Parts: sequence; C-alpha cells; structure tokens
Amino acid sequence: MSVRKLIDARSSVRHYDPAYKIEETILEGLIEGASKSPNGNNIQATRYLVIDDPQVKESLLPIAYNQQQVVEASAIIVVLGDYTAFEKENIINIQEQGFQKGYFNTDIREFLASAAIDYYTNKTEEDLKLELIRDASLASMSLLLLASEAGLDTITMSGYDSNQLRKVLKIPDRYLDVMLIAIGKGVKQGHRTVRHAVHKIIFKNSINR
Ligand SMILES: Cc1cc2nc3c(=O)[nH]c(=O)nc-3n(C[C@H](O)[C@H](O)[C@H](O)COP(=O)(O)O)c2cc1C
Repeated sequence: MSVRKLIDARSSVRHYDPAYKIEETILEGLIEGASKSPNGNNIQATRYLVIDDPQVKESLLPIAYNQQQVVEASAIIVVLGDYTAFEKENIINIQEQGFQKGYFNTDIREFLASAAIDYYTNKTEEDLKLELIRDASLASMSLLLLASEAGLDTITMSGYDSNQLRKVLKIPDRYLDVMLIAIGKGVKQGHRTVRHAVHKIIFKNSINR
C-alpha cells in the first residue's frame, strides 16, 4: 500500500483482540524499521521497552487511567529517549562504525563527530529533552506506519502517569519516557476524526494570523 493510503487508512484504535499475540520477529522488524528514521546527528537515542507480559500490562491499567487498550493490545511499547546517547563516547563510536563500513573517510568521521559533540555542548536539560522527544516522535510515526503496513493497529498514548510508570517499570533516570504505543489486532475501528483544512495550517514566508 502506498504511504498516502496507509496514512489515510490509519486511525487510533482503542479496542483490541486480547487473544492476538504479535510474533516477536515481526515486532522486532517493525522496531528495526523505525530505527531507520531520521534522528539528530544520528546519535540513535531512541529505545523501545516492549511490555507483553499480561501481569505487567495489568499493572499499567491504573497508571494509564484504565484505558483498556493497555491490557487488550498484544504489546505496549514504552518509547524512551536515552540521555547517555549525548555522551562523546556514543557519538565517536557511531561515526567510527560508519567509517569502518566504508561509508566515509577519516576527515568526514572527525567532522561528523566533532560537529555533534559541539552541538550538544552547553545545551540545557530542556534542550536535550526536546532532542529526545523529536527523535522518538519521528521513530514512533515510522513504527505506526510500518505496523499499518503489516496489518496491525496502534494507538500512541500520553495518557498515563509518568511517575507511576517509571516507578512500576523501574525505568532508570537516564531514560525519558516519551510515549506509549499500544499495538495489536484491532476489533473496532478508531472513531473517524476531522482535520483542519490545509489552507488553515500553512503559513507562507511569514505568519500572518
Ligand atoms: C502524543 C499522543 C498522545 C495520545 N494519547 C492518547 C491517549 O492517552 N489516549 C487516547 O485514547 N488517545 C491518545 N492519542 C490519540 C489521539 O487522540 C488521536 O491521535 C487523535 O484524536 C487523532 O485521531 P487519529 O489518530 O485516529 O487520526 C494520543 C495521540 C498522540 C499523538
């Protein structure tokens, strides 16, 4: 299916077949595809905590304000941003890997690594958080589209208590929880939603309203 058709057909699904289990290799393939999304300086900060244990999913129910999809969907993916990805060692290591693969020469390796290191120097905690959110969001959208292509349904969720989630799942401080994605076989279409007319959301050259 074309990307356009996938986008047109996707909707947030809130009711899932609880008996349906996504094969691990399929989910891994979706995440591997999502990891190819653009990300700042290719530091690859996005991580995926897959929750498919029924008991753990059950523990998420009150944390997600009793949104039933957290127990009915085959898996809940906690999309995370890893603050340690900003560290020099990670940046140098990634550019070294590109060099070893023959993708660029030593000059480019040095340039890419030092540009990235400089870019993150003096960034505030808030700036870094935004970087993680940008990257995780783009990867999440890729994951949604890949899931649609595979005949699966999804919903992105921010409706959960972050403190409680972090506590129950014992998420270390180095990770920012960006969103949850429930994924599985939908049993009921998401309700249809409207969008603004395109002329209302485009500005050209300056903001005039
Ligand atoms: C970041 C984010 C968080 C969301 N959180 C929730 C949520 O907690 N519960 C829910 O039912 N829908 C949630 N949604 C789904 C939105 O309500 C939905 O995307 C929007 O209404 C448009 O509908 P559509 O996705 O079906 O096109 C979330 C969507 C996004 C992008």
